[in-house]
Amino acid sequence: MKKIVLSLGGSVLVPSLESNNISRYVSVLKKVAENCRIFIVVGGGGEARRYIRVARDLGAGEAAADELGIMVTRLNARLLIAGLGDAAYPRVAENYTEAQEFAQAKKIVVMGGITPAQTTDAVSAVLAESVGADLLINATSVNGIYSADPKKDAGAVKHERLTPQELLDIITGARMNAGANIVLDIVAGKVIERSGIPLLVLDGRDPENLYRAIVEGVYSGTVVSRESSNPLLS
Ligand code: UTP
Repeated sequence: MKKIVLSLGGSVLVPSLESNNISRYVSVLKKVAENCRIFIVVGGGGEARRYIRVARDLGAGEAAADELGIMVTRLNARLLIAGLGDAAYPRVAENYTEAQEFAQAKKIVVMGGITPAQTTDAVSAVLAESVGADLLINATSVNGIYSADPKKDAGAVKHERLTPQELLDIITGARMNAGANIVLDIVAGKVIERSGIPLLVLDGRDPENLYRAIVEGVYSGTVVSRESSNPLLS
């Protein structure tokens, strides 16, 4: 069975606690898990940013703000586990070894953040490397990687395909603060480059996009890979 690491942006899964999309994701994830082994890394979303903002206002440094962000990603991971019920391993993996241990139960493994000064993008890339994933999917609130922020720049052009080196060139220089909104963080870029694991960035606001990509090989997004073939069909 194919192994897939799925990075579920908090902005997609839990934009805010009340506006969460967990139940919509649960039904899709259960169907996807019939076709492949999945590992999910959950982001912090709006609630993480609220905590980070308040902590900064209280004078907390960036690392302390990051620690709060990590706690919120783990809370969101817990919520997803609650929704997945028996389909998921009941605990949030807190490091990569645990994720591998939990995977032996042949259930969906869920984790959040790990350590300050990075985002869950980095966690998903390192997890993909640790478990020897065939594919890394980043489900986010844009439908791919653009030449500029498409929410701010009307002239931004979507990249259909990038090599890992081209991806690194795009993200190098982006500013990394707690709660920052960047395409992918630099640690993720470097790990994707060294591991050669193909990455698909797609619009996760509709969970069905995920089903179509994984099960049917049909997607609209950006593929980052060394080879030009479709990583979903190989
Ligand atoms: P993310 O930025 O990964 O969450 O983590 P997100 O909400 O999914 O981001 P989107 O939706 O893709 O935009 C939230 C915050 O938690 C801290 C960082 O401060 C990050 O901005 N964090 C997360 C860490 O410090 N280390 C981690 O390993 C993960």
